[in-house]
Amino acid sequence: MADTRANKQFRSQEWFDNPNNPGMTALYLERYQNQTHTRAELQSGKPIIGIAQTGSDLAPCNKIHVFLVDRIKAGIRDAGGIPMEFPVHPIQETGKRPTAALDRNLQYLGLVEVLHGYPIDAVVLTTGCDKTTPAMLMGAATMDLPAITLNGGPMLDGWWKGKRVGSGGVIWEGRRLLAEGKIDYDEFMDRACASAPSLGHCNTMGTASTMNAMAEALGMSLTGCSAIPAPFRERMEMAYETGKRIVAMAYEDLKPSDILTREAFENAIVVNSAIGGSTNAPPHLQAIARHAGVDLHVKDWQNVGYDVPLMLNMQPAGAYLGESFHRAGGVPAVMAELAKAGRIHEGCMTVTGKTMGENITGRDSVDHDVITTYDAPLRPNAGFVVLSGNLFDNALMKTSVISQDFRDRYLDTPGSEGLYEARAVVFEGPEDYHDRINDASLKIDDQTILFIRNVGCVGYPGSAEVVNMQPPDHILKGGNMHLPTVGDGRQSGTSESPSILNASPEAVVGGGLAFLRTGDRVRLDLNKARLDALVDEEEWKERQSEWKAPKLEHQTPWEEIYRTHVGQLGDGGCLELATAYQRIRHQLPRD
Ligand code: FES
Ligand code: MG
Repeated sequence: MADTRANKQFRSQEWFDNPNNPGMTALYLERYQNQTHTRAELQSGKPIIGIAQTGSDLAPCNKIHVFLVDRIKAGIRDAGGIPMEFPVHPIQETGKRPTAALDRNLQYLGLVEVLHGYPIDAVVLTTGCDKTTPAMLMGAATMDLPAITLNGGPMLDGWWKGKRVGSGGVIWEGRRLLAEGKIDYDEFMDRACASAPSLGHCNTMGTASTMNAMAEALGMSLTGCSAIPAPFRERMEMAYETGKRIVAMAYEDLKPSDILTREAFENAIVVNSAIGGSTNAPPHLQAIARHAGVDLHVKDWQNVGYDVPLMLNMQPAGAYLGESFHRAGGVPAVMAELAKAGRIHEGCMTVTGKTMGENITGRDSVDHDVITTYDAPLRPNAGFVVLSGNLFDNALMKTSVISQDFRDRYLDTPGSEGLYEARAVVFEGPEDYHDRINDASLKIDDQTILFIRNVGCVGYPGSAEVVNMQPPDHILKGGNMHLPTVGDGRQSGTSESPSILNASPEAVVGGGLAFLRTGDRVRLDLNKARLDALVDEEEWKERQSEWKAPKLEHQTPWEEIYRTHVGQLGDGGCLELATAYQRIRHQLPRD
């Protein structure tokens, strides 16, 4: 790409050097001069590079960016740009109630307003914790200014009594051990903290590591960026190189719309299967695609990604954690192995100014115990199954984390034909689940499917990670750790449950889950990718006609705004009206 420095006119000069409006130019200059910049700098014609700061005390997964930003700024300066750091609405996955998912679209909106309304020519998007990555990419897609992601990196590996303990998994296991009476409260807390030994985001292949891998697979970060653990020297170097690169991108006018193509999303889907990525990736990628104006459907996750094998041995689908992933070669190694099998669109443009194929050539896995070749994977067919039926139009099932026992019973057994019939037990939300899960009158046994509803985008609001419900104590004590679960919410990216989730449309807007009752028979047919309630058609229609939409109680103004405008998880959970605003860089705001 051409770096045409001479005669390049940046939009920031509309603020700082507009001969047609000296009155406003003076106003802009005096206030940006009073702290950190000189008039000569601001009128130099150099690009002003925004740095979207997602780290703070409230957002500890991204806190490392508070330190990395010095290196980003140094890179920007050395390459001839002018850095301007700005804060965005904080998102902390585990700390924000009722759920961080409510805030992804808020962080997105905030970023769009900043990029549109301030003198910014290009932007470094700092990412890390789950929703920060999609929120930043959605905003960049809407605005379409040159943009590059820099993630903070995963924490160092956690260790407990000589064993690796990773984010999320340590909680699911601890909950079970506590329920079984095998550990006490203090040990539960100590184990949990052992999984988080340093700065950084979750060290498993949960939603954070997944979404940062997606950013890299899409071509939106420098090569090898996503897997470098937060405290490593290379993380600091990557921050500096990212700062340098965004300045060149500003001159080249290399924009998200040059990078975020349908083929780039297909690369991301394939990589997600190969790394055993999170079930939160589909709604987030759908959302990024919709804001980028790229045609992507939830069914593409099965069509493009199902037959891709699991090639990364990292928790929750495998054994290792983030440090091993990085040492084995990170995302470039996974993509290089996939490319050798012809599974990557190598011609996609990336933020490096080179194609994906050029970026990953020669970056093969250096440790096949951690990143396998395509032909000797950990398991075949590791992508998502996208189900439909009379309970929903679409819902996801992540096959890469399903236990061998469950696979033998329902997926792989010749003669089972992927069919499973069971009795439904229905919960109205997480509170109802906690109140009643051990209620003997529910008659939960090993042939039960647990359902949870009213926990989608509109219902919760924001869609809660509660579908991975733990079986009742008597089932756990009997040695069965997982019953199939179904719901219109999400589950944690670190979960290893055989769940059917993200059911769309959700119950509170009249999706089929709303009409299901405890005691109904349901049939899961994995070969046909269907889940249906086996309820007589007349009866089903009667339940539908009797149904009344529940009254929603909002606790904040944003909850009401969000619920009024949000779509369904299968469509990315976007603010529907926002998807009409695309490439708004072409309109300057009034001054
Ligand atoms: Fe923030 Fe996992 S909770 S990265
Ligand atoms: Mg999560």
